[in-house]
Formats: sequence, C-alpha cells, structure tokens
Amino acid sequence: MKTYNIAVIAGDGIGPGVVAEELKVLDRVAERDGGFRFEYTYFPWGCEYYLREGRMMPENGLEILKPFDAIVLGAVGYPGVPDHISLRDLLLQIRRGFDEYVNVRPVRLLKGAPCPLKDVKREDVNMVVIRENSEGEYAGEGGWFNKGTPEEYVHQIGVFTRKGCERIMRYAFELAKKNGWSVTSVSKGNALNYSMVLWDQIFHETAARYPDTPTHEYLVDAAACHFVRDPGRFQVVVTSNLFGDILTDLGAAIAGGMGLAAGANLNPEGEYPSMFEPIHGSAPDIAGTGKANPMAAVWSASQLLEFLGYEKYAARVLEAIEAVLVEGQALTPELGGSATTAQVGDALVNKLDELLR
Ligand code: NAD
Ligand code: IPM
Ligand code: MN
Repeated sequence: MKTYNIAVIAGDGIGPGVVAEELKVLDRVAERDGGFRFEYTYFPWGCEYYLREGRMMPENGLEILKPFDAIVLGAVGYPGVPDHISLRDLLLQIRRGFDEYVNVRPVRLLKGAPCPLKDVKREDVNMVVIRENSEGEYAGEGGWFNKGTPEEYVHQIGVFTRKGCERIMRYAFELAKKNGWSVTSVSKGNALNYSMVLWDQIFHETAARYPDTPTHEYLVDAAACHFVRDPGRFQVVVTSNLFGDILTDLGAAIAGGMGLAAGANLNPEGEYPSMFEPIHGSAPDIAGTGKANPMAAVWSASQLLEFLGYEKYAARVLEAIEAVLVEGQALTPELGGSATTAQVGDALVNKLDELLR
C-alpha cells in the first residue's frame, strides 16, 4: 500500500486542536480509499520548545523535514516569545528554506458560510490569491542602526528578483489558463518606485505570453476596496508577499472568517516538501477553550489531497465542509454555534463518510 510520510508541526495555541481534526479527516479519506495511508511524524516545535531549548526547532530542522512527502502545520506564535523570533525561525524559515515560493490561498464563500457583504452574490466571492512566498517584503534583509539612541533608524529591505517575479506570475497564468480564468496583478507602483515598477513590468511581459488570458491590474489600496465592494471581478490574483498576507485576511473576512481560510505553501518543482496550513494564527484569545474552528485546517487537508493528485477527494472534503455549514448543527462559536473543535471535526468525518459511500 502506498504510504505518504507527513511531518506534523502542530505548533502553538489552537494549532494542535485544529490539526488533530485535520488528520482525522485525512485518515478517513485514506481508509475509504483503501489504496494508500498516511504516516505521521510529530515534531513538537514551537514556542514551548523555544522556552525549553532556546530555539524554535533544532538546528538541522530543515534537514529533518526534507525527506517527508509534505508538512502539515497548525499555527505558530504565543505571548512570551517575540513574534519576530517565533515566526521567522520556524514558519518563515520553512517557507524560504524549502523554496515554497507559491502560496495558494483560496477566497471562496462556501454554501452556508456567513458573508458580511451586502448586495454580493455568493458565487462572486470565488478567487484564488497566488501570493509570492519567498522574497519581497519578507526577505528579512536590513539592519538596525544607532540602536537605542535618538538617531536610531532601521532598514527593512524588500527584495524582488526577476526570477522570483517571473516564476510566481507564470504559476498564476498557468492556473488561470487551465481554468479559463482571468489574472489580476495587485501592486503599488505609484509609491514603491523600484520593487513594484519591476513587478508591473514583469507582469506585462508574462501577460504577453498568455494572449488568451484576460488581465487586470490594481493598486493594492484600490484592490482592497474592490475586495469588499465588488469581489466578483477577481479570479486569480497574483501579488507580493506582504500584500498577499493582508489581502487574504481581508479575503477571509468576506468568505466566512478566519476559521475558514486555508493556504498551501508549494514548492511546485517537488525538490522540497510543500506545507499546508490554515492561514490563521495561534489565536491565544481562544486557545484551550475548544472554540477554534477546524474547518480552515481541514480545507488545507483538501489542498494537500489535491497536491498529492487526489482531486476527487479534495473536492469531497470541501463538500463535507459545505454540508456541515449548511446543516448548521455543528458550528463553533464564531459561526454562531456552540460546538467544540472536536465535535466539528467529528461532524466533518461523518459527512465525508456519507459523501464517499
Ligand atoms: P489569529 O489568526 O491567531 O487570530 C485573529 C482572530 O481570529 C482572533 O480573534 C482569533 O480568536 C480568531 N481566530 C483565528 N483562528 C480561528 C479559528 N480557527 N476559529 C475561530 N476563531 C479564530 O491572529 P493574531 O491574533 O494576530 O495572532 C496570534 C498569534 O499567531 C501571533 O503570535 C501571530 O504572530 C501568530 N500567527 C501565526 C500564523 C501562522 O502560524 N501561520 C498566522 C497568523 C498569525
Ligand atoms: C500568514 C501569517 C504569517 C505571514 C506570519 C505569522 C509570519 O500571517 O501565514 O498569513 O505573514 O505570512
Ligand atoms: Mn497572515
């Protein structure tokens, strides 16, 4: 039987709780199929590990992860460890170290999910944000000068390479071509006179190679407004690391909330493992209460199944989420229900069983 070796970094706060439900769903899919199985190896890396060991993961963490078929991540970050350490030394290190340069973040309003927008049709909230995930504003370059003096200043350098822009735009256009969708570039060339001017130029060059794909371009501020006022104009959105981060939380807000937003960090060449995660954080405000919605993590399991080539199961998992939302019996408090994380997970597994029968 085919075995997929999955590295599990459940992480901090609500991470372990939502990941447990995600793995239940993956296991049920595998059981139903009968032809493959998942083998999980758990890595207890995160903020507790940091407080014990003085680092977020072992020095050879990436070497340890490299042989796995994929990584499942919960969430990282907790009060007591500075965020710029906990996130940069674990999550961001994996994304960059494994050249997971594509961050696929669907913004899709599932049936039954609440939408705060007025006069917007459900089908109109249906786009995929392709976020550049390896460089840009997150390059981590810069310095801190005259520290602690009145003349203190910092440099936070954005790095936009031709190669980095070309490959993310190519990915976006290929995705659009496959599905007959448009591609929208979101940038900020009016203010960022080097990075976003190069970005725009490479977008035009790439678009010229896909003459049949409709394109649009917006400045990020205007795009934020359109996300809320007229989301139907977006299909594939390609944007930089930081803009993609912000726009996808906005995307989550219009598509059911943080409990329903997932993301896949892909190394499309398969040279390194790809990583699947909900886009939300460790939610310290509800950690330990059983109130976390596992649907975002479960959606990322659907992305993992698609990545492994099981498109049909990926679709069934989303249908299970939709069915549970529509029935409205097993919902966590942020969706107006009173179910626990595990009860929602059980409802999803039962629904999946029905759908796979
Ligand atoms: P957050 O996403 O953790 O929480 C924002 C709000 O959304 C909170 O009110 C929280 O209760 C709610 N929420 C998030 N996920 C939810 C879920 N599954 N179900 C129900 N409600 C949910 O963002 P934050 O508060 O800005 O960050 C908290 C910590 O997480 C910080 O340390 C931050 O750096 C980190 N963080 C980590 C990741 C990651 O690991 N991928 C992502 C974002 C933030
Ligand atoms: C996300 C998160 C991360 C990011 C943080 C925690 C570094 O917000 O995955 O959206 O900014 O990429
Ligand atoms: Mn984010």
